Order: sequence, then C-alpha cells, then structure tokens
Amino acid sequence: MCGIIGILGQDPAAPRLVEALKRLEYRGYDSAGVAVLESGALARRRAAGKIRNLEAELSASPLAGISGIGHTRWATHGAPTTANAHPHATDKVAIVHNGIIENFRKLREALVKAGRKFESETDSEVIAHLVSAGLEQGQTPEQAVTGAVKQLEGAFAIACLFAGHEDVLIGARKGSPLVVGLADDEAFLGSDAIAVSPFTTRVIYLEEGDVAVLGRGKTKIIDAGDAVVERPVTVFSGGAAAVEKGNHRHFMQKEIYEQPETTGRTIARYVNAFDERVEMPDLDGVDLTADSAVLIGCGTAHYAGRVAEYWLEQVGGVAVETDIASEFRYRKPAFGKSAFSVFVSQSGETADTLAALRYCKENGLKTLAVVNVPESTMWREADARLPTLAGPEIGVASTKAFTAQLSALAALSIAVGRAKNAISEQEERRLVRALMEAPRLIADALGAEPQIEKIAQEISTARDVLYLGRGVHYPIALEGALKLKEISYIHAEGYAAGELKHGPIALIDEETPVVVVAPHDGLFEKSLSNMQEVHARGGKLVLITDEAGAAAAGDIAKHVIITPTCDPFIAPLVYSVPIQLLAYLTAVHKGTDVDQPRNLAKSVTVE
Ligand code: AGP
Repeated sequence: MCGIIGILGQDPAAPRLVEALKRLEYRGYDSAGVAVLESGALARRRAAGKIRNLEAELSASPLAGISGIGHTRWATHGAPTTANAHPHATDKVAIVHNGIIENFRKLREALVKAGRKFESETDSEVIAHLVSAGLEQGQTPEQAVTGAVKQLEGAFAIACLFAGHEDVLIGARKGSPLVVGLADDEAFLGSDAIAVSPFTTRVIYLEEGDVAVLGRGKTKIIDAGDAVVERPVTVFSGGAAAVEKGNHRHFMQKEIYEQPETTGRTIARYVNAFDERVEMPDLDGVDLTADSAVLIGCGTAHYAGRVAEYWLEQVGGVAVETDIASEFRYRKPAFGKSAFSVFVSQSGETADTLAALRYCKENGLKTLAVVNVPESTMWREADARLPTLAGPEIGVASTKAFTAQLSALAALSIAVGRAKNAISEQEERRLVRALMEAPRLIADALGAEPQIEKIAQEISTARDVLYLGRGVHYPIALEGALKLKEISYIHAEGYAAGELKHGPIALIDEETPVVVVAPHDGLFEKSLSNMQEVHARGGKLVLITDEAGAAAAGDIAKHVIITPTCDPFIAPLVYSVPIQLLAYLTAVHKGTDVDQPRNLAKSVTVE
C-alpha cells in the first residue's frame, strides 16, 4: 500500500517529508519521491528502491522550500522505476496518490487526445493532468481538485501541491485512508496518523468523498455532497513508540514479544475478571442469538476467522461459514434466515474485506468488524466493532494483531455461547479463566526462542516445508506456512493432517521438513499416526507440542518444540508463538528483509 505525506510548514520541507516517509515504510514500497515549492515553482526528487536512494538524490541536489508532498509507492500500474515514482506533476500541480484509478485508460486517452504529454506508465499521472486542465481553464485549486476527483472511478487518496500557491495543500479520499494533521501555523496530510506524528498529534480522519483544503492553521473540508463540513479532531498517541524497535532487531521480533501485553489488553477489554464473564461493547443490533455467522478476512486475518469458526461452533453453538474475502465478494453468497457477519482485519482498509463488508450490509446483515486501526474505514463502516488493542503493527507480517484478533474472537465466541444458552454460567467462568491465562502462557512460549533458533538454521536451507494441524490447529498450520513463506521466501504449505494420505504424503522425503502443530489434546493420537506415516518415509519432523505430547511422541520427531501446557480453548493463541518464531528466525538466517518482505504491502487496499 502506498504512503502519502503533505506539509504546509514553517521549516524546510524536504527533511520533514523524508522523516514522515520513513514512518510509512512499514506499508511496503519500491520507490519514493518528494516535491516542494521553491520560489513558487514545483521541484521534484524521486528514486526507485528504498528511501536511502531518495536521500542520496536529495543530498546530491538539495531542495529548499517549506511546502511539499512525498510518497512511497508500491507498484500497481507500471514497474517500480524513477519515472513511475510519485509525485507526478505538470508545471502547475504535483500530486501523490494511494489506490487504483480504474478508469484511468479512458481518462488518459482523452487527455492525450487533448494534447497532454504523459511521462509515466502509471494510472496516477492522469490526476495531475486532470487538475492541471482545470487550473488552465482558470479554476481555483479547490475547484480543479473537486472537479478532477469527480471524474475518477476506483480507490484513491491524494495530496496536491500547486505552483504559485505557497499556502494551499489539498487532499481528497475515496476508498483509501487520509488524515489531516493540525497545527497552529502549519497543516499536514498523511495516509495515517503515524505519518504526521512527527509534527502533530491532532488529526482529523477524512470520510469517504471528503476534500480537505488546507492553509497554514486553516482547514476546510468539503464532503461528497459539496457541503462544507466539520469533522471531529482526534488526539493520536501511537506515534513515536509505535515506530521504534527498542532493543529488538526487527519490528516483527518486537511485535512477537509484545504479545503478552497486547493479548492481555485485548482480553481485558472483553472480560470482567472479577465476575469471570465476558462483557461485549454495544454491538448496535448485531444479534448474537442469530442462527448463523459469516467470518470474512484475507491472509492471516482469514486464518484468525478459521480458528474462530471452531470456537463459534463448539462454544457458541452457531453455524459458521468462513471464506477469504476475494472469493466471498464475487460468489454472491446466500445467507441464513438470521445471520450476522464478522470482518477480521488488522488495517481495516483491505479492499476485498471492505467490499465483502459492504456486500453484507447491502444484503441486510449486521456487520461486526474485528479491527486494529481506530477510525479505519472498516472501523467506521461496520455496524459494530470489536477493537483489537495490539497498537500499530509495523512489521508487514502480522503477529500481534493475529493473537489480538484471536483474543477478541474467543471472547465473542463465549458471548455467543451465553446469548444462545449453549454454555452454562459455570462453563463461561471456566472459559474466561482460561482466556485470562493466555498472556502468561504466551510469555512462557516465548522462552523457546533459543531452541527454535537451532531448528530455524536447518529449515532455512529447505526448498519446501509442509505444516500439518488438526482441529483449531489446522488454521494455525496454515498461518505458520504463510508466516514462513512471506518473510523467508521458502515455499510452505499448510494442510489438515487428516488430508496427508489424500495427496501431500507424496511430498514426503528426507529434504522436506514437516512441521506438526499438535498439543496433547483429543486429536493428538490422530496426529501421531500422521507423524508415524511421515517418519516411515524418512520425513524430517518438527513437532510443536506440550510435555505430554513430547512424551507420547517418543523419538519419532527430529525436533520437538515444547509449548506450555494449556487449556485447549486458548491453545491457538499460545501455539501462534512458536510458528511465528520459527518463521522469523528462519528469515533472519536467510537474511531477507523481515519487516518489509519483497513484493508485500502491509495493507492491500487495492484488489
Ligand atoms: C499477514 O502476515 C499478511 N501480511 C497478510 O496476509 C495480511 O494478513 C492480509 O493482507 C490482511 O490484512 P488486514 O488484516 O490488514 O486486512
């Protein structure tokens, strides 16, 4: 996902733009650029690759000027080259854009026919030309931008800087997030509050269709209906702490180690520890007694939904459908008589999940978002929300958000069980007590890092890795495979252990490590049979289990990662730690860019 920053400042803009872009690196990118106003004229510096390349450009050819815009680009249309890097500009306006303009070809053809010259392969460049065309017709910057955005189809957040207008900065959003940063004699635009956090903590989260016309210390917001509106000002406090690694090598490692705290915070939000009951916030009409539930998400968030499917059925007594958002939204799914829908998302901006949420709303379902970023689009469009209190997650690979999602979904499952009289008061107490133990057990599970380090060394030379799990640990196996592949670039596949003989067993040889996620629970014996099948074929087993499982497995596994003995209900939270550490430590051995893996973005706000 691209990152945007805009500054109407009092000090040199270029270094401030670069500082803000560094806070946006976590979103994933492959080129970067800035534009400033120097004596009223637009001047740009852009570079393919990391921000250090842009800094080299700037030190070779510095920029003056106290107003500017900046961008980190994650390539969608056009290769990650300097020519395709933002800002895109004419002699009258420079723009930066996050999102996809779906009708850009038609717009570009018309603009070329009108004699305009394009210099890039991007969809975004059409915005610069549309705004420029308005200015050349004598429109004001505000008129030119509002006119241009009305011609755009698709998702966008933009920031615009105008030649000869030192005191104007204009932003617009439709489908991609954009915040205004407020200060007495300055003004800022950013893709999120972290981007503007070096300069201010007072932010306005723009709504769908808003255009923000900024002056120094001045803000005018025009809504989709062309009315001038007021938006609430929020104080953002997650800035500095959120973007420092502390004494960790990577943000991902820091966030893995934050999990006792972040799951604890999230669980505390939804349980009354004294009464040992769950306490849901006002769910605004989401009926927990409904016959069925739909759980939708992408990637790791989808796997959290897959774990919750078992909980909602076993504890909640409710029929559940889970699906990945990109399939769900195009399937035209039918719904039960009474159903509610749950959308799991760290960023709250994932395009497919957001579209699925909107589909469910259009079809009369109440929508509940399990979301980590306050005021994100899903946070605001859902009928109700269960915030995950993981704090800003900087590493592209999701870790603490995943266990925070599990924490909230576990509490939701208990709440559904109570609402549907599927569990007794005593059972609720037991489950809540188990849930409250999760943070401590997660902390204990982190103690296995030194042992996992040795195993990771071996895994790092593998070409393929198979992950197996049963029951709620099948989605944990899927998540373990995703973590490994997305940060170490080793091909990995998660499978239901019971499926081994239906095909994957053909993969087993001495070269392919098989990671089995199997606490000593009611399904352990079944998983042990699968491990014997792997062992018999020379497979290299890595068993993640507890003391009892290790004893029962004997010496069948080449490596055993002992995880704290815990209640089966919360085991998925605890077993997330060894699979995260295994992926992280393997990637460190391979020397990949752990926090910003190649080709990945932190949030996929385009289809
Ligand atoms: C997680 O490690 C991945 N980076 C990715 O699958 C992610 O979970 C997915 O894109 C969904 O993002 P969201 O939670 O922000 O919606």
